[in-house]
Amino acid sequence: MPVDMEKIVSLCKRRGFVFPSSEIYGGLGSCWDYGPMGVELKRNIRDMWWKAMVQERSDVVGIESSIMMHPRVWQASGHVGGFADPLVECKSCHLRWRVEDLDKEGTMSEDGNSRRCPSCGGELTPPRMFNLMFKTFMGALEEEASVVYLRPETAQGMFVNFDNIITTSRKKLPLGIAQIGRSFRNEITPGNFIFRTREFEQMEMEFFVKPGTDEQWFDYWTKERFSWYLKLGIKEKNLRLHPHSKDELAHYAKSCDDIEYLFPIGWSELEGIANRGNYDLIQHNAASRRNLSYYDAESGERYIPYVIEPSAGVDRTLLAVLIDAYHEEVVENRERVVLRLNPSLSPVKVAVLPLSKNEKLTPMAREVYEGLCADFMTCYDDAQSIGRRYRRQDEIGTPLCVTIDFASLEDHQVTIRDRDSLAQIRLPIDRLKEALEAKLKGEAFESSSLWAAGRR
Ligand code: GAP
Repeated sequence: MPVDMEKIVSLCKRRGFVFPSSEIYGGLGSCWDYGPMGVELKRNIRDMWWKAMVQERSDVVGIESSIMMHPRVWQASGHVGGFADPLVECKSCHLRWRVEDLDKEGTMSEDGNSRRCPSCGGELTPPRMFNLMFKTFMGALEEEASVVYLRPETAQGMFVNFDNIITTSRKKLPLGIAQIGRSFRNEITPGNFIFRTREFEQMEMEFFVKPGTDEQWFDYWTKERFSWYLKLGIKEKNLRLHPHSKDELAHYAKSCDDIEYLFPIGWSELEGIANRGNYDLIQHNAASRRNLSYYDAESGERYIPYVIEPSAGVDRTLLAVLIDAYHEEVVENRERVVLRLNPSLSPVKVAVLPLSKNEKLTPMAREVYEGLCADFMTCYDDAQSIGRRYRRQDEIGTPLCVTIDFASLEDHQVTIRDRDSLAQIRLPIDRLKEALEAKLKGEAFESSSLWAAGRR
């Protein structure tokens, strides 16, 4: 069973991953701020996604579109009319509930009225549709300003730029357009920490293909995306595919597979891979009166491409990665919490720890630290006992600690400690960078001649 959510929330607060938003004012429901460790972990997740989805592929390009888009985008996409959840409200405590959530819990029958409020037991209103888009006004005077929406998905930025990309990138189909950015949804029941929030970040890619090849590409992307989570280091037993039944499909989707993770709240969506058919381009083609068809020079055909969309959440991935890496264990009769993160994800790669604060050790340790921080995300820590400092680094998932002790002053060697095996080796300072690089690439202490040379 995965760790319980309270432990993750507490670790995140204690170690600077995630704080409640506006905490000094009592917090703002379902909004969270990422602290120094959280931003690094988030950045590493984004970088690994971008590397796999854009950098290493010649058939995908990136964009960054604006969060506020022309309101007609959302009319054409169907979000103004269709991006809504049925909700019921309690007549006594006025809490609102998603019918889908009540259905899942088995507390609600189809007419929406025969069950009571899960919070106070009050009577519930019949279900009504609630649009999830945030509205705001653009312009100086509110009465003259036009309504704009905060985007509920980044995907529409790719559809409205399809023509720009085709004409400027000189690339042929199949072609993907990728983007990472914030999305906003006025969720009825946000919660479970950063799992469902009203402001979150998506990593989406729209892959435009020739009609008829869509199903094959759908299978391809489902496999690719599943294996990306394995590359992040998430255990396979905690991942599964959930193909959508017809009544689960979004208004635009022909088919959809979710990649689910075994969160403490149960199996839940981490990413959706959808076959959006040609729904979006057809809608924008008609509404904008711009020709969004594609001329296939090879076959001499003109068509509106189909789209396969892998759509992931940065925040949900971060939560899954933390839960999966969290371990409690007893080492030499002492408990330790350790995040066994893939080193590529670890917020700090190397911690430089002088054995104590001392007029000779400190300058040497600072020099080692300054020599490393251009190449690795490095931290310097000389507060409290060495044992406590190791524990702090274990809790944030730092793969390697470098200790400078009094012998270092004589022999110019330092000790490297491995987070997972707790093995230690001693190496000359001038080989430190090379050794850290090898270890961070995944080389085992035992397998490398470099390590063997230094082993005590
Ligand atoms: N463009 C398709 C789309 O947006 P989605 O399944 O609604 O599909 C994709 O969202 C991903 O975005 C989800 O799998 C999840 O990781 C993330 N996501 C969606 N709503 C979220 C929310 N309220 N809070 C955090 N992440 C969310």
